[in-house]
Amino acid sequence: MFLNLDKVRQYFPTLAGEWTFFDNAGGSQSLKKVVDRISEFLLSSNVQLGASYGISQLAGERVALAAMGMATLINAKSSQEVVMGSSTTMMLKILALCLSQTFTSGDEIIVTNCDHEANIGAWVALEKQGIKVKYWQIRPDTLELHLEDLELLMSPSTKLVALTHASNILGTINPIKEIAAFVHERGAMICVDGVAYAPHRLIDVQDLNVDFYVLSFYKVYGPHYALLYGKEELLLKMPGLNHYFIGQADIPYKFQLGNVNFELSYGMLGLCDYLSELAQLHYGNETAPDLRSQMVQVFDLMSAHEEKLSDRLLNYLNSKPGVRVIGQSQANREARVPTISFVVDGIHSSTIPLKVDSHYIGIRYGDFYAKRLIEYLGLASQGGIVRVSMVHYNTLEEVDRLIAAFEQIF
Ligand SMILES: Cc1ncc(COP(=O)(O)O)c(C=O)c1O
Repeated sequence: MFLNLDKVRQYFPTLAGEWTFFDNAGGSQSLKKVVDRISEFLLSSNVQLGASYGISQLAGERVALAAMGMATLINAKSSQEVVMGSSTTMMLKILALCLSQTFTSGDEIIVTNCDHEANIGAWVALEKQGIKVKYWQIRPDTLELHLEDLELLMSPSTKLVALTHASNILGTINPIKEIAAFVHERGAMICVDGVAYAPHRLIDVQDLNVDFYVLSFYKVYGPHYALLYGKEELLLKMPGLNHYFIGQADIPYKFQLGNVNFELSYGMLGLCDYLSELAQLHYGNETAPDLRSQMVQVFDLMSAHEEKLSDRLLNYLNSKPGVRVIGQSQANREARVPTISFVVDGIHSSTIPLKVDSHYIGIRYGDFYAKRLIEYLGLASQGGIVRVSMVHYNTLEEVDRLIAAFEQIF
């Protein structure tokens, strides 16, 4: 069975326009269903929660329903484990501030050199309070993180390992389940940045057995808004940041300063609606009975389609002399997401997107805030990499149009 692209694209009004969007890792297009739910909330229940009158009750039910929907999306045990807020950068800063109050001077944290700065800087900032930060580097030959290297960095003082599920530059998927088990065996916690992974694969925080996990909804077909998952017992244990009278046991509220954004939370239920409808459209009588299993069905179709998109583009880039793909050069969906970066010998990366713009195709270049990675790769002076980031709503025809544009440039 294949993903029905005609049907899929109808859910995203902007895709009917003239532009091809290949900057999805920067931000995906929004589902109409999400936008409709945001409007529905604002136009019919935009009141403070917690009062006895009917509309306040309705608003409360809607926000609670949204948190449950997001718990289903990541397979959290309950919506109490789902903290929502403005951005991943902000959520990680809040987490670092709260969690670090349970650390003492001399404790150690391990970060990588291939993450977006959001999951590095928040932890490096703790050096000021005596926390030692160590760097788990990718190997220059594989551009991958190796457990043998992590082993050398871990000590009885290691409290946390922070890393990305999928690199927003390399596209590489890290084997988080295996890494989490390794880290737990050595008595530490794991915090995973799932921002570049979440648009492409279904997350299962229980199966991965991660302690903390973050993602940004504006890359998962919604608005600028984010989610932090934390294991219930860990969220309960650490202090929150909210007012003094918000209790220690009041999770997730003690981390949600000024509360969640009601309408954006409710909007994200539109993603659940979309995934459920897509399952029904494709599977008919064979549609799984519950929302989570429907999500499993749909993400399988999406990732199979994404693999084809990656394959088409990678085959082209691999065939071009002077072009170097930065990351996995094969499309295998177990190993990478369709976020594809490359450099061209002798061409500054900044010049390529400019020439693609006139074809009504949006791509971009730079370091994408994975500055440490770009510096490690020695690509800063070349302007970083050119990135083509695709998602399931992109088509092979769009990839072919991009290839035709590239043919005029290099
Ligand atoms: C992998 C990754 N992590 C974190 C972030 C930061 O997310 P936010 O903009 O929600 O702070 C980004 C944004 O591009 C990202 O790509």
